Amino acid sequence: MNSNLEKLLIIDFGSQFTQLIGRKLRELNVFSEIIPYQNLSNKTLENYNPKAIILSGGPSSVLGKKFPLPPSNLFDLGIPVLGICYGLQVMMKLLGGKVDSGSGTSEFGRAILKKTGINSEIINDLFIRGIEQVWMSHGDHVSEISKGFEAIASSEGAPFAIIANDHKKLYGVQFHPEVYHTKNGLKFLNNFLLISGFSKNWSMGSFKEEKINVLKNQIGNKQVICALSGGVDSSVTATLIHKAIGNKLTCIYVDHGLMRLNESEEIIHMFKNNFKLNLIYADERDYFLKSLKGVSDPEMKRKIIGNLFIEVFTKYSEEIGDIEYLAQGTLYPDVIESVSFTGGPSETIKSHHNVGGLPKKMKLKLVEPLRELFKDEVRQLGFELGLPKEFIGRHPFPGPGLAIRCPGEVTSYKINILRKADAIFIDQIKKYNLYDKIWQAFVVLLPVRSVGVMGDGRTYDFVCSLRAVTSVDGMTADFYPFNNDFLGETSNKIINEVKGINRVTYDITSKPPGTIEWE
Ligand code: XMP
Repeated sequence: MNSNLEKLLIIDFGSQFTQLIGRKLRELNVFSEIIPYQNLSNKTLENYNPKAIILSGGPSSVLGKKFPLPPSNLFDLGIPVLGICYGLQVMMKLLGGKVDSGSGTSEFGRAILKKTGINSEIINDLFIRGIEQVWMSHGDHVSEISKGFEAIASSEGAPFAIIANDHKKLYGVQFHPEVYHTKNGLKFLNNFLLISGFSKNWSMGSFKEEKINVLKNQIGNKQVICALSGGVDSSVTATLIHKAIGNKLTCIYVDHGLMRLNESEEIIHMFKNNFKLNLIYADERDYFLKSLKGVSDPEMKRKIIGNLFIEVFTKYSEEIGDIEYLAQGTLYPDVIESVSFTGGPSETIKSHHNVGGLPKKMKLKLVEPLRELFKDEVRQLGFELGLPKEFIGRHPFPGPGLAIRCPGEVTSYKINILRKADAIFIDQIKKYNLYDKIWQAFVVLLPVRSVGVMGDGRTYDFVCSLRAVTSVDGMTADFYPFNNDFLGETSNKIINEVKGINRVTYDITSKPPGTIEWE
């Protein structure tokens, strides 16, 4: 890593929001690194030489018998420090202040701060109307501040919601400036960065360069394989690793025959011809379809596809031989609820299901270069790596592909019909300039036939449903409100151009109670 890089160190005490601090700092063009408190000694802290430090929140209490502490030389180094939530409390505890639990003083969710104390650069451009809306998540609160500190603002449950020792550039907040619901959180963090003297010239371009260097060092001369699905995450992962180690990366594209119209050809063309990636095309379309014969239960379909994927991927990678690493496009939201990203102290909420147990079965080490990024940052990185804009902005596509958009038994006849209808729907959405306003859009081919009349003849063909949703993260979603002209024109086009469909419906279910996919 570039040793002249201005670094901010985030000491992680296990908050669910710690990665968000890093994300906000990236938005403000500052490089930061998150290190769990237990991995830091006085010496490592000195060697790391950060320009400023943020102490994260965390689930512990300084009122407990044992509680997490930062290195003991932290406040001797003369570096600006911002303590957030638990970070504030541990700072007060160490510097001679007092923390209490008190009854009725915990605050979770929205809170209003009133300016009750001094002015400080840390609140520049804030409290324009005397108050600030913030997001809280605390049981304990600071009841007495240490010598040298002054109060700036308070909330109902936190008499010292913002405090400052401007002379030593030490700051503390009880609220979470890193979360979206703290209205001016970004401004607050920016004030801390300016006070700390950051020149704020970090960019996704420099992130790319640093990652490439780190990957070069990490992987050395070893061989890496990567399952390239054509989705944004695996594509960015592969391109990034390829930039670092070239032909020592082999990508395997498993064609399960359940991709959208022309998708496989486009993916192969782009990565093999344009990016000159070492790419194996595993044409297993017949194998997957044969194995899905007669299966209509959605979970069975998913299991069969998942297991076959592992089997096929393993077979092809064994032919390469002598592989040490498996690259995966895991993103931060995929890991946040499983284990703390840095191996730090946050609690396990649920175990994440990763790409079908591949690493365990193949006894490979994992390389996951996107682990600290959010989806929109991955797109930005993809752009830096030269992936085309239309490719990076594509809607998500599920691993099991069209199989879960074809309720009932999957046959090549049905998949072909579905593919054509899906392509028309997406073309229409692009023609109406709606593609980027919609999170995901696709057609579902229903296992239902209906009677229709075309020309003077009776038809008895499949019914399809259009699905288009808006969403931020895929966790909740709402149907997209197309106008009647769009729906009418699209329905006509599908029925006229796709043999096998004679009726089109529009799915107006939100998530919850529905899911985005039908299966
Ligand atoms: P649901 O249907 O659960 O989908 O509301 C939420 C998002 O996840 C995608 N999805 C998947 N993605 N493998 C994936 O890579 C899968 O098995 C899978 N199932 C659903 C879905 O397309 C939507 O974006």
